Amino acid sequence: MRYFPGFLDAGDRLQLLGEVRSALEAAPPFTPTMPRTGKPFSVRMTNLGTLGWVSDRSGGYRYQTTHPVTGQAWPPIPDFLTAIWRKLADYPHLPEACLINLYSEKARMGLHRDADEDDFAAPVLSVSLGAEALFRIGGRERGDPTRSFRLKSGDVLLLAGETRLAYHGVDRIYPGTSSLPDGAFPGIARVNLTLRRVRRPS
Ligand code: SIN
Ligand code: FE2
Repeated sequence: MRYFPGFLDAGDRLQLLGEVRSALEAAPPFTPTMPRTGKPFSVRMTNLGTLGWVSDRSGGYRYQTTHPVTGQAWPPIPDFLTAIWRKLADYPHLPEACLINLYSEKARMGLHRDADEDDFAAPVLSVSLGAEALFRIGGRERGDPTRSFRLKSGDVLLLAGETRLAYHGVDRIYPGTSSLPDGAFPGIARVNLTLRRVRRPS
């Protein structure tokens, strides 16, 4: 794992939030549901890129080219994010998916692995914006020991190499720590963007 605290400065964060806002107009947040049980996630989501990650009761976890509610193609990944990938990913191909996770102060994300991609040679690059989150990371087995630390607005995290398939999750959001512009993201305290390569390059 590589951790870049404060990788984005205040200007970068504002620019990226602007990109996220316009993306949300084209691809509104949806509430994914768990495979089989249909239980709703507490985190709302949307995607950018040629492929987006979705989950529902009947189809399970998967990538698809279109938004599950509007049926439209996902908006493109902004150059601003692609540039961060080029700088940090140490991987010769571009990401295909940018999952946008939208957390209210009460939302959390259970321990999971990002394992729905074909190519684990590419890292997962995650950018945090807004409220602080208690992020937990363990090993490749669910029962492995875990450690946790606070992710802050502007932090970038790279799950690469041995940690590419590590279990991770978000235990809690710290209320009152959100720096998102007033009113810009109603009900949302934290935004997390994860860039991923999905298909193995030919
Ligand atoms: C995720 O694992 O998809 C989200 C991680 C985060 O929100 O920091
Ligand atoms: Fe994840």
